[in-house]
Amino acid sequence: MKSLISILDLSVEEIEQLIATADDIIDNPDKYCEKCKRKKLATLFFEPSTRTRLSFEAAMLELGGSVIGFSEANASSAAKGESVADTAKTVSCYADIIAMRHPKEGAPLVASINACVPVINAGDGGHNHPTQTLADLLTIHREKGGLSGLTIGVCGDLKFGRTVHSLIQAMSRYSGNSFVLISPEELKLPSYVKKEVLRKNGIPYTQTTDLEQVMPKLDILYMTRVQRERFFNEEDYLRLKDSYILTPSKLKNAKESLSIMHPLPRVNEISVLIDDDPRACYFKQVLNGKYMRMALILKLLEESEG
Ligand code: NCD
Repeated sequence: MKSLISILDLSVEEIEQLIATADDIIDNPDKYCEKCKRKKLATLFFEPSTRTRLSFEAAMLELGGSVIGFSEANASSAAKGESVADTAKTVSCYADIIAMRHPKEGAPLVASINACVPVINAGDGGHNHPTQTLADLLTIHREKGGLSGLTIGVCGDLKFGRTVHSLIQAMSRYSGNSFVLISPEELKLPSYVKKEVLRKNGIPYTQTTDLEQVMPKLDILYMTRVQRERFFNEEDYLRLKDSYILTPSKLKNAKESLSIMHPLPRVNEISVLIDDDPRACYFKQVLNGKYMRMALILKLLEESEG
């Protein structure tokens, strides 16, 4: 039985199929509205979430299934000291598929080893966030007509930002992509991602602290929030939180065809004045996330039955 813990658990072909399914769901929603009848999704969220949890729930409801779960650790037996393994074994008795978010890196993997239904990693600490990447991939595919030949700027908290780690893993598998890593010194991309993903695959990348200087060459600008909850002290967070604020004036040398992305929530990284710019894609990402989660739930349930 298959789970989704890292985006690399899906082959390039499987991602292509998920995108094709999501496109078909967008065009023919009625065809899918009973596909998961009598199936249950459990959302086990040990960390705050708006988009990820609600899009999983909306996805399952739109497939005709139902949803159980909790949205904070204190509302579960974790507060009494139950292990992730025992929680996973227990929830397997009630649900056909599990989506789990947890502050500890690796917790969804532990759950997948112990559950007897598929487990989807809905974000584990500062590590990975594969379903956000599915939302990002559908968005890039629809905006750019493909996933290759792109110069991708990722900006902000590249150290703790799990969405960035999964996106770099995913986009490194397509030909002709290169990365511009834009961050303060303290929040640079972890060396394991540079070594095991970028250098291992021969992907060109540069590192800079200066967003405006690199703006003209970018096809995609992926902004991120400084991840306050991963900092050891508030002082460092306060010093770094407003390192990059995208305003209309900073876009003056950007390509007409630039796609501006952000996994959201934004705190201060993108001025609301940019929301009406045709290059802003971040609310499209939100909607695309629901369609890709529908496609993923369908795939994993089909596989677990087959
Ligand atoms: C992201 C996350 O949880 O990592 N949010 C999301 O799922 N869309 C990004 C973030 O919290 O900054």
